[in-house]
Amino acid sequence: MTGTFIRAAVIGHPVTHSKSPSIHGYWIAKYGLSGSYEAIDLSPQDLERGVRDLTARGYAGFNVTVPHKRAVMDLCAELDYTARRIGAVNTVIIGPDGALEGRNTDAFGFLENIRAAVPGFDFSAGPAVVLGAGGAARAVVDALVQAGAKKIVLANRTRDTAQELAQRCACPCDIVVADWEYRHDVLEGAALLVNTTSLGMKGQPPLTIDLGRLPPGAVVNDIVYAPLETDLLAAAKTRGNRTVTGIGMLLHQARPAFAAWFGVMPEVTDELTERVLSCHPRQGSASDR
Ligand code: ATR
Repeated sequence: MTGTFIRAAVIGHPVTHSKSPSIHGYWIAKYGLSGSYEAIDLSPQDLERGVRDLTARGYAGFNVTVPHKRAVMDLCAELDYTARRIGAVNTVIIGPDGALEGRNTDAFGFLENIRAAVPGFDFSAGPAVVLGAGGAARAVVDALVQAGAKKIVLANRTRDTAQELAQRCACPCDIVVADWEYRHDVLEGAALLVNTTSLGMKGQPPLTIDLGRLPPGAVVNDIVYAPLETDLLAAAKTRGNRTVTGIGMLLHQARPAFAAWFGVMPEVTDELTERVLSCHPRQGSASDR
């Protein structure tokens, strides 16, 4: 081990299911660093006190999971551009003066996962269809816009939520909202299909979608990673579409946070992926740190 001892953590409520300690713990050991990363349960009423405590104890920063991703924004002196656009913080850097800088790395995680699995994928090549309009969808849509998507079709069970998401994206690309019942039809001509809903996750209802109109060249990504191969991905693979599992988004979103606290941009390896998948074999999606 080398260097000063660096502390980081994930805060949430509940937080025992978090995979972040496995991810960051793996990297601390792999890079021979002197540091720790733990899971800290903070109820909403304890959030401010708990964060002050981490600052007083000299933590380098922390990840933020449900239900604090919005509330923690009020405690941050600074927010990065992505956190402001998405309206949620998943990573906090504590400055030497104790000031908090809130960032959001989910959009980065989404893009890096697709890029690692499908090298050279061109996000501007054709329309992207996004199922869902919750927190994860906000990060995915933001990422798609940043990556140059020209058209995004949003299909969500609650149309109004998709409409709000489309309206908050002041961007040059065309964002179209489709009724949930037409999710099968909007696949015509799509270059990318992303499931950001909880459907298909272990313990949740299945995602029913007819892929018949999806072009064979389209890439299909599910941000659900438990099970790793969801029914959506299995169906897409059977028709010959390239598929991207959700675990990589979770792993890649952790990299910039680790780099900010520990000073090393870490790699996502097969060993890390297997390790994270083998712990807590319960439900999970990539936005659920
Ligand atoms: P996350 O932060 O993981 O995105 P979320 O914000 O709770 O979680 O969003 C969950 C998404 O899954 C939403 O798009 C939700 O649709 P609604 O906006 O209509 O709630 C979608 N979802 C959850 N259960 C669903 C179901 N049974 N059928 C269709 N969509 C569902």
